[in-house]
Amino acid sequence: MSSEKIKSRIDAHVIPTYARFPIALTHGEGCHVFDADGKRYLDLGAGIATACLGHGHPEVASALAEQAGKLTHVSNLYYTEPQGLLAEKLVALAGGNGKVFFCNSGAEANEALYKLARLRGADDGQFEILTTLGSFHGRTLAGIAATGQPKVKEGFAPAVEGFRHVPYGDLEAMREAISPATGAILVEPIQGESGVNCASPDYLLGLRELCDERNLLLLLDEVQCGHFRTGNFFGWQTIMAAHAEFAPDACSMGKSIAAGLPMGAIWASAPLQDLLGPGTHGTTFGGTPLVSTSALKAIEIIERDGLAQNATEIGNYLAEQIGQLIAHHPNVLREVRGLGLMIGVELTEGVAAFAESKRPASVQIVERLHTAGLLTIPAGARVFRLLPPLNISKQDADEGLAIIESVIKELAQ
Ligand SMILES: Cc1ncc(COP(=O)(O)O)c(C=O)c1O
Repeated sequence: MSSEKIKSRIDAHVIPTYARFPIALTHGEGCHVFDADGKRYLDLGAGIATACLGHGHPEVASALAEQAGKLTHVSNLYYTEPQGLLAEKLVALAGGNGKVFFCNSGAEANEALYKLARLRGADDGQFEILTTLGSFHGRTLAGIAATGQPKVKEGFAPAVEGFRHVPYGDLEAMREAISPATGAILVEPIQGESGVNCASPDYLLGLRELCDERNLLLLLDEVQCGHFRTGNFFGWQTIMAAHAEFAPDACSMGKSIAAGLPMGAIWASAPLQDLLGPGTHGTTFGGTPLVSTSALKAIEIIERDGLAQNATEIGNYLAEQIGQLIAHHPNVLREVRGLGLMIGVELTEGVAAFAESKRPASVQIVERLHTAGLLTIPAGARVFRLLPPLNISKQDADEGLAIIESVIKELAQ
């Protein structure tokens, strides 16, 4: 089927919640994907940080085929081996204590965190969760209430009660915002959607101290920055590498945890782990044998092939090379930031070539990169994100850098 046919069928029949780029993809191999007209793209977006082993990974494909032939889904009324193995592995990666809950998406994982926080604070009227401006926590009604961006809330009033936002990275603002109704603080260790903003170790340490002092839960949204992308399983483990004593009370997972299959999860530490119980929460598809097999296989490959280390090395290399490009073209590029393979590249304000269109510069640069054969992800007004598969090679990184350089040079003229 041609690209045009694929596009027109989707445009005619799918509710347009996404402003799609005019690219119809049919298959992929490693870090590359191909459109229906045969054009090859280097995919440094990986489905917004989701296809952690790239596309068509043969070992994931055969593990899935084998499991699909045995057992795809049974209800959580029963026990299955893949779910238990995955839960055991995630608890170990979180530090060895606590338990996990499985669901289907990042937003749903965060819902479980909100419910956990409300249950824990119920007796003391501590229902409120403080989050940060610029955050993104998902598209459910509570998710948009938690998200610190007005644009996601428009038209959906009244908002779910019990969420307030303070500037990201501002410990004092967080301290001042705490009220007798506050029960928890929720932050992303690295804000993804608003342009890749990293928490500092001091900020996370300060939040931990604040939570301990005021008897609040510290909740971390690891949906985008987690799952080895920064060099450790959780983003906070990279940021807090010099602070072995640091741990959140609970965190949410999603996106790449099952190598591209839909899975969300939360990890909750030992005192909280049994708060949610039969009748208080659940979901039909959480932790099915098929999706759990995909997650287990992905973790096995990432650990066996040293891909967390690869994320650190290639991430540093990409950031360093982009840094050099910035030094040569400050009129187009302003800053590169991030950790490991979660990289944001910020454009300089007022790039002449983008002045004619009203669309954000972040979208316009991503389109130019598309034309040149590279997939990246826009964020905020002026940032494009690189969120490549963790098994990206140096050769793939160099291919991406060459494309970025050619487009930046064109814009600089
Ligand atoms: C930090 C963060 N939390 C939550 C979500 C929501 O995840 P999902 O789209 O799987 O519901 C996202 C998605 O971009 C995210 O980046």
